[in-house]
Amino acid sequence: MSTKQITVIGGSGFIGRAIVRALAQRGHLVKVAARRIERAEPVKTAGDVGQVMLMRANLRVPSSVARVVAGSDIVINAAGIGWQQGRQKYQSVHVDGAKTIADACRGFGVKRLVHISGIGADARSSRNRYILSKVGAEDAVISGFPDATIVRPSVVFGPGDVMFNRMARIACSAPFLPVIGDGSARVQPVFVGDVGAAVAAIVDRPETAKSVFELGGPRVYTYREIAALVLHEIDRAKPVIGVPAALMKVAGFFAQQAALLGLTPQLTVDQVELMLHDNVARAGAQNLATLGIQPTAAEAILPTYLDRFRHGGRYNQHAPA
Ligand SMILES: NC(=O)c1ccc[n+]([C@@H]2O[C@H](COP(=O)([O-])OP(=O)(O)OC[C@H]3O[C@@H](n4cnc5c(N)ncnc54)[C@H](OP(=O)(O)O)[C@@H]3O)[C@@H](O)[C@H]2O)c1
Repeated sequence: MSTKQITVIGGSGFIGRAIVRALAQRGHLVKVAARRIERAEPVKTAGDVGQVMLMRANLRVPSSVARVVAGSDIVINAAGIGWQQGRQKYQSVHVDGAKTIADACRGFGVKRLVHISGIGADARSSRNRYILSKVGAEDAVISGFPDATIVRPSVVFGPGDVMFNRMARIACSAPFLPVIGDGSARVQPVFVGDVGAAVAAIVDRPETAKSVFELGGPRVYTYREIAALVLHEIDRAKPVIGVPAALMKVAGFFAQQAALLGLTPQLTVDQVELMLHDNVARAGAQNLATLGIQPTAAEAILPTYLDRFRHGGRYNQHAPA
């Protein structure tokens, strides 16, 4: 395997960090690009001195993207937003940003482009603004760089994730754990380390150009089952109660106002809508197994970071199942 110069845009994020680690472990030279690049400092230790370089770039500023793309063999777009705030809009970051990257890659003769999308990004009939921007982003990537590889993960779990940490946090303070609607929508959580390994494998396999991968974990759960799993992991016996979607959207609307203060909203209207629909890899899609990766079970990883939500904290013994 030859060493490549790889730029990871969004390399300071939850998924981006895992990708950077996997690439550095394989000996590649990695440029990490993001706006608040200081947040990427911890990934520097993923490689030897000088192997992981940090560079500031903003997808809304094409010249900054050109600067980080220039000289790269491979570019990975792991940037994205979960809610809109100020100039950070789904259109400007997801769609226009994807086009900017694809154009820069073409212009600088980059050999491979890997775009991190999400399951459902082919749902053209969706009315969800987030999903529609993911559809638009994939279209922009394919039209600007037809040989790009698209990676669509289901919900991603691991230390620092959004969904499992949020559920555990709510379970600690609320008298019950809410699920949206009847909680019967299905999801296939995939481990962030497996997503990183998948991207590293894609980089090493030229035959994966011009293809789509859908990444899910070993098991499909309903959201109600996920809630039960979280409660089990944190040793808290609370009822799981279905809350009508309309009510949760109202809660999401008020919660997302936190973004105006620069805080991370605990829930948004778009997220509520997403959790009403299945988020599962399509049968027959290329997946982790295609890349020779055995998916990691959520049950094996959740105890390593949800233990802090247990009664008595991290060092309290977990009750046997
Ligand atoms: N997490 C999941 O469960 C999941 C599941 C499926 C798909 N995805 C997709 O995977 C991608 C990454 O998700 P994540 O969970 O890793 O998100 P994250 O932790 O919020 O990281 C997002 C990254 O994007 C960067 N970014 C945002 N706006 C930018 C801009 N204008 N210019 C340059 N960089 C920008 C952020 O850095 P700065 O803000 O400092 O610039 C950060 O590095 C997203 O496209 C997301 O939709 C995530």
